[in-house]
Amino acid sequence: MSRLRSIFLVSCALMHWVVAAQSPWPSDAQLSGNAFLPPRLKTLQNDPGSNPVSLWLDRGALAWSDSSTGPSCASCHGKVNSLREAVVQHPRLSADGTKLVNLEDQILTCRSQAGKKSDSLESEEVLALSALLHQTAKGLAWQLQAPVSQQVQWQARLERGTALYAQRMGRMNLACVHCHDQNIGKQMRADVISPAHPTGFPIYRMSWQGMGSIDRRLRACYSGVQAQLPPPADPALRDLELFLKVRASGMTLDGPSLRR
Ligand code: HEC
Ligand code: HEC
Repeated sequence: MSRLRSIFLVSCALMHWVVAAQSPWPSDAQLSGNAFLPPRLKTLQNDPGSNPVSLWLDRGALAWSDSSTGPSCASCHGKVNSLREAVVQHPRLSADGTKLVNLEDQILTCRSQAGKKSDSLESEEVLALSALLHQTAKGLAWQLQAPVSQQVQWQARLERGTALYAQRMGRMNLACVHCHDQNIGKQMRADVISPAHPTGFPIYRMSWQGMGSIDRRLRACYSGVQAQLPPPADPALRDLELFLKVRASGMTLDGPSLRR
């Protein structure tokens, strides 16, 4: 932590020296998106009384014990805390090795089995539960590794995610790497480009006026470069998520969080 901090301070000092007043933002590739929040949002994020994320956590807690259509999450899983480790182990391969399942996919499956048939990945309850689970896992590091019996399938998905990250796309003909590795700390319209770490999710984005998962954020980046949008839960999005989480190994989870 202190090493990270000193790298951060040194890189800030360098930035000031090299680019003077041009950019007040750090360009350290190991920083969470939370390091790129404008001061106004940072203040809001640190104030539980007015941070909109708090409302979503309350809502998640209600959904956790909701037994109106079938068994509640609590009745099968006990305390929210019991799923802490699960948060940092997703996306995970399905038992047959054909699908990468992320946390929201799993919440959706469990909700559907408990009688909530009309939910989708972007349903408010699914996102509220995701926020609640991420909150209990704050401070944990990702634990993503190939399962012993599924090495080949897992490695193939990771390789696909790695390749997608470097693949040019859309009318702007840009790859993730062009923005999130080569232009960290630069201003892009109203945004400052971060290293695209998956640590801060799910996010309450002011421009969405709501909570969104990493799935939605990745689709927003496809849209940003005017590429054809993959549908929610597209395997490409899960492969990218796996890649991002492996790339962020050593970093700790610091979501749910606010974004512009
Ligand atoms: C043209 C530049 C550009 C490209 C290309 C691009 N993004 Fe982004 N992305 C952004 C901007 C701008 C944001 C919002 C500010 C930020 O957090 O970086 C963002 C945000 C993100 C975030 C959220 C980070 C956070 O903490 O909130 C992730 C994750 C992400 N992008 C992943 C990707 C992936 C994966 C790709 C390739 C499929 C990609 N992006 C392509 C510009 C881009
Ligand atoms: C009827 C019992 C039942 C209910 C109700 C239920 N689950 Fe599950 N859940 C399971 C079982 C069984 C598994 C493990 C097997 C599997 O992967 O399907 C599981 C797995 C999970 C996992 C992954 C755990 C891990 O260690 O990998 C998460 C996260 C989860 N459930 C969240 C929820 C949430 C949130 C709710 C409430 C919306 C919920 N579950 C409701 C039975 C239930």
